[in-house]
Amino acid sequence: MKTILSGIQSSGKLHLGNYFGALRQHIQMQEKGDAFYFIANYHSMTSIDDGEEIYQNTIDIALDYLALGLDPDKCTFFAQSDVPQVTELAWMLSTFCPVSMMEKAVAYKDKVAQGVTPNIGLFTYPILQAADILIYNSDVVPVGQDQKQNIEICRDLAGRFNHNYGDEFLKLPEEYIVKSVAVVPGIDGRKMSKSYGNTIGIFDEGKTLRKKVMSIETDSTPLDEPKDPERCNVFALIKLFAGESKQQQIADKYRAGGYGYGHAKNELLDMIEVYFAEARAKRKELAQDIDTVRDILSEGGKKARARAESVMEPIREVAGVFKSY
Ligand code: TYM
Repeated sequence: MKTILSGIQSSGKLHLGNYFGALRQHIQMQEKGDAFYFIANYHSMTSIDDGEEIYQNTIDIALDYLALGLDPDKCTFFAQSDVPQVTELAWMLSTFCPVSMMEKAVAYKDKVAQGVTPNIGLFTYPILQAADILIYNSDVVPVGQDQKQNIEICRDLAGRFNHNYGDEFLKLPEEYIVKSVAVVPGIDGRKMSKSYGNTIGIFDEGKTLRKKVMSIETDSTPLDEPKDPERCNVFALIKLFAGESKQQQIADKYRAGGYGYGHAKNELLDMIEVYFAEARAKRKELAQDIDTVRDILSEGGKKARARAESVMEPIREVAGVFKSY
């Protein structure tokens, strides 16, 4: 059975990009293999230094996942920090990682370009991510397009490690990226991302949701003129929610004229409300019992640690570093 693994940072509210680009696949794939999903709370420390905030984000993301259909009986669901072997392996991998490899990482360069003063944790972020993946012998990593390079780095580091010690100690994983949702656009048309402030939250509702949908950027084609759906941000988001015939219907209205961007936004708003209605109700219910959520994470942590330890043992041995002498 294939091992499927993925993670999400606890760095803020999850958005439609996270859902369609990753979470939805995670939930679908829990039936299709031995699935490990975790909340990357160590990674979020590269951008958040408030402990309470990281803790709260971790619980919130656990609630999101569970409300959206993640079933802890079908997969291993846990927090990254519950598996100390991850940071242990990350250290070992860092000794095989040329500084130049990190300097070339696009996500790092982007953050620096945005004006972030980088810390070493941010610089070596992909090494910790490689350890996250390799420590469970993962075969497949379902992610959005922005994680592709990190997975290439992961394979590269595993290859260097294996080559040095002369055996396949670490399994090289493959990314799984669904093309149609590889890059979900935000309200300004750029990739939806917390750092661009252009997100629509999965669990946004009421006025907040309306305000965000209404602020999706469009061109200024007048109401009665025909419009090209394929060049419209609103339509790009509609496509995530609508089946083929509904998409076709709306595309026809765009092309016919007399259908304004405001109409499209209202249709999108309704689609979002309907699509997530059940998850919203479930999330409210789950939020009444945080202890159960914490129990789920700690049970998952136990299972994840057991797997991680079995992968780590031979690695310590071949590297000549042991836990006790
Ligand atoms: P994060 O928390 O930024 O995002 C979580 C997942 O959501 C996807 N995603 C998107 N997909 C399509 N369109 C978008 N606009 C969009 N925005 C986000 C991301 O590609 C990701 O799959 N480094 C990871 C967390 C991580 C991880 C790992 C992932 C840590 N260790 C090991 C996989 C394996 C991250 O920051 O994701």
